Amino acid sequence: MAKPKVLVTRRWPAAVEAQLSEAFDAVLNTGDKPLSEDELRDAMTSFDAVLPTVTDKISARAFDIAKPQARILANYGVGYSHIDMHGAAGHGMTVTNTPDVLSECTADIAMTLLLMVARRAGEGERELRAGEWTGWRPTHLVGTKVSGKTLGIVGFGRIGQEMARRAHHGFGMKIVVQNRSRVSPDVLARYNATQADSLEDLMPQCDFVSLHCPGGAANRHLINTRMLNLMKPDAFLINTARGEVIDELALSRALWFETIGGAGLDVFDGEPRINPDLLDCENLVMLPHLGSATREAREAMGFRVLDNLTDFFAGREPRDRVM
Ligand code: DGY
Repeated sequence: MAKPKVLVTRRWPAAVEAQLSEAFDAVLNTGDKPLSEDELRDAMTSFDAVLPTVTDKISARAFDIAKPQARILANYGVGYSHIDMHGAAGHGMTVTNTPDVLSECTADIAMTLLLMVARRAGEGERELRAGEWTGWRPTHLVGTKVSGKTLGIVGFGRIGQEMARRAHHGFGMKIVVQNRSRVSPDVLARYNATQADSLEDLMPQCDFVSLHCPGGAANRHLINTRMLNLMKPDAFLINTARGEVIDELALSRALWFETIGGAGLDVFDGEPRINPDLLDCENLVMLPHLGSATREAREAMGFRVLDNLTDFFAGREPRDRVM
């Protein structure tokens, strides 16, 4: 029987590409050049499966085709707000993602950003590399203590819980969470956490707020001027979720006028383009979407896609089906 034809839209870890090529009739993107939306649409008409990732915007327009050959979009990544789910549903397509395997590494990056911005590590490194360090002194680059402070976690899924584990058990932080649904008492008890009734309730209580909710239209600009104004004037905002969750103009104003203490961002609205207003903010640490960027996580994500595809084409329910 002919192997299913699958298209991989970006370069993947070599070990995963090798197994994909063995199991499927796989076309790899050896040049790692992002596909245009038209190319993605064409791929859906000529492959049995398309394997997109975070950088592949598949909007409603891309689904404007009479009859796709692709029956599954096996996404490489946990977030899938780049895929128009109505469009996929309209063609009865299955969509899968890659949860769990990147939760620890993404929480590690959130904690990295939190520590960097609180301890002014970005400013210190820039000063040192610029040859401007004049030596130790009691008032030099004095930051904020992290241990024992209150951390607000917005979105208490797998990554949010890994963040709570690090912050509570590693740094003795008090955890307050905000989540769409009620979190069960035994999950909260693992981190001695409490659940806030709303975001409005959470924001003023926290020394740090870390975002772990999904992106997409529903959460676009969830953190806006009103929410930023509810933060303590010395509190810090961390985002490893999706760029669109924060109104970046409002954030750049809050940072510039120091109505909050600082921010750490791993994701940006319209990335890789960076809003120029952010670049001028000293009290901001920025990373280029590194949340899952470890060898271990990136390989595990690829193997998770492979499992999803294998199950799908064998007629079994893929474990990570989101539609
Ligand atoms: C995801 O998986 O959604 C991350 O943003 C990239 O690892």
